[in-house]
Amino acid sequence: MNILVLSAARENGKTQALTMEAVNSIKLHLPGVTVKSLYLSEMQLPLCDGCGACLSSSEANCPHYAAVSLITDAIFWADGILFASPVYAGMISSSMKNLLEHLFFMTHRPMLHGYHIFTLCVGASTGARETAKYLKGIFGSYGADTVTCASIADKGIGSEIMPKTMERVNASAQDFADIVSMGPKHPSMRQLRNYNKLRADIQIDNSDSYDSLWWEEEKMNDYPWVPGLPCARPALIYGQFVYSRHKIAIRLSNAFLRMEKQKRFKTAEKSQTAGGTPRRRKGKR
Ligand SMILES: Cc1cc2nc3c(=O)[nH]c(=O)nc-3n(C[C@H](O)[C@H](O)[C@H](O)COP(=O)(O)O)c2cc1C
Repeated sequence: MNILVLSAARENGKTQALTMEAVNSIKLHLPGVTVKSLYLSEMQLPLCDGCGACLSSSEANCPHYAAVSLITDAIFWADGILFASPVYAGMISSSMKNLLEHLFFMTHRPMLHGYHIFTLCVGASTGARETAKYLKGIFGSYGADTVTCASIADKGIGSEIMPKTMERVNASAQDFADIVSMGPKHPSMRQLRNYNKLRADIQIDNSDSYDSLWWEEEKMNDYPWVPGLPCARPALIYGQFVYSRHKIAIRLSNAFLRMEKQKRFKTAEKSQTAGGTPRRRKGKR
C-alpha cells in the first residue's frame, strides 16, 4: 500500500506538525504502508500561466510539464493521497492552489477514479471548513473515490496544538487508512451521474479533441463506469441511462442553437436585401 503526502506546509508550522501526526496514525493503522512526502515549498513548481495547453491538448504540452509530471507520477504510484494545506486568507495556500491549477486538466480527463484522498486544512479560526469543502469538490471533479476531510480551526496559543485537535486528526487519519485498506469502492449515484454526463459531453461536443482520444484510449467511452473498477450491475444500468438521456439533451440543445443561429442569419440577410441597416437599440452607440 502506497500513500503520497502532498504538503503545502511551511517548516515547523502547525500544518507540518499535524501532517506528521496524521502520517504516524496512518502508519499505525496500515502496517507495511510506504509513505512518500512531497513538500511544495521544496519542489518550486512554476506558477500555472493559464495557457490552457493541458486542457485544449495534452498535459504533456504544459510548459512546466517536467515539474508537474514529477507530481503526477507520484500520484499514479499512490493508492491514497494526503493533501495538507494551511488556511491562508480563507483558502488553501497559494502553492496548493497552484498545484490544483496544474492538475485541472483532470476535470476533462478524470484520472483519480479508484483513489482515496485525505485533505487536512489547518486554520486558526475561520475558513478551514469552507476550504475542506472546496477541496472535496475539486477532487471529486478529478474523479477521486472518497475524500476524507479534516478541517481544523486550532486556536491553541502560539505554536501549541490543542489535544482535541490532535484527536480529531488521528480519527480522520484512521478513517482514511480504513478506507484505503478496502481498495477502490463502488461509485455513488453522484459519481455515476457526473461521469456519464462528461462521457456524453466529450463524445458529442468534443469528439475531435484530445480529451475524446484519451477517453477512447482509456476504454472509458464505451462503459458507464471506469473499466476495471467495481460497479454493481444496477448502477451500470443507471449510468448508461444517464448517458443516453444526457446525449439526447445535448443534441436537442445543439439543434435549438443551430435553429436560432439560422433565424438570426436570415433576419440579417433580409434587412440587408431591403437596403436598410439593422436598427440599433436606443441608447446604444
Ligand atoms: C497570511 C496568513 C493568512 C491567514 N489566514 C487565515 C484565515 O483566513 N483563517 C484562519 O483560520 N487562519 C488563518 N491564518 C492562520 C493559519 O491558518 C494558522 O497559523 C494555522 O496554524 C496554519 O498555519 P501554519 O501551518 O503556517 O502554522 C493565516 C495565517 C497567515 C500567515
